[in-house]
Amino acid sequence: MAKLTWHGHSCFEYETSEGKILIDPFLSGNPKADVGPDDIQGIDAIVVSHGHGDHWGDTVAIAKRTGALVVAAYELANLAADRGCESHGLACGGGRQFDFGHVKLVPAAHGSMTEADPKYATNPCGIVITAEGKTLYHAGDTALTADIKLLGELYRFDCVCLPIGDNYTMGPADALHAARFLSAGLVVPMHFGTFPLIEQDAGAWAAEVRSATGSRCEVLEPGGSVEF
Ligand code: NI
Ligand code: MN
Repeated sequence: MAKLTWHGHSCFEYETSEGKILIDPFLSGNPKADVGPDDIQGIDAIVVSHGHGDHWGDTVAIAKRTGALVVAAYELANLAADRGCESHGLACGGGRQFDFGHVKLVPAAHGSMTEADPKYATNPCGIVITAEGKTLYHAGDTALTADIKLLGELYRFDCVCLPIGDNYTMGPADALHAARFLSAGLVVPMHFGTFPLIEQDAGAWAAEVRSATGSRCEVLEPGGSVEF
C-alpha cells in the first residue's frame, strides 16, 4: 500500500514498501504546514521539482539532518551538494532507479530562479516516481501543456498531484483538463490556499474532477493522508 501525506502547498511525504520520499519541502514560512522541518524523520530522499523557495524550502536543513539524498535537476543538485548535502542530479526527461524507487523528471512550464547564484538556475520539472509497482506524478508548478496529455498516454498513473491555485500555476479549469488527460486512479489537488492569491474552492474542484473523469479525487487537510 502506498501512502501519500500532505504537509500543505506542494509538500508531500510518499511512503511505499521501497522507502520514504519527501517532495518539495516548503515547511518554514508555510502558514499551512502541519509540521516543521525538524519533525521530518526517516526519509530516504528529498525530490525537488524546481528552485523556487516555496518548493526548495527546507531541503538543505532536512537533508543535512537526516542524511536523505536530494534528487533534483542537475543544477539544483549541485546547489544541494555545495551546501553539504548528498545529492543526485537528473536532467529533465531523465530517470534513475534508486533503492527507494525510480525517479524521473518530466517537463513543466514555469519559471526557474533560485535564491542562490545564477549558476544553479535550471528548468522547472514535474516528478514521476515508480515504486512498489505504483506510479505517482507530482506536476510541480506548471501550466497546462500538451506534455501532460502525452504523460497520460505513456503512463497509467495510480496517483497524480496537480496544482490548482492559478496565478503561478494552472488554475482549476486547466487542472480539470489535466486530470482528464491523465486518467489517474487518484487525483490530489495542491498549491492552493497557502496564500490569499492562490485561494481556491478545492472541494468544488474535486466534485468536478469526479464527474468529468471518474477518477477518485481527495482533498487533503495539511497532515492528512491517502492510501492507494
Ligand atoms: Ni514555482
Ligand atoms: Mn510554487
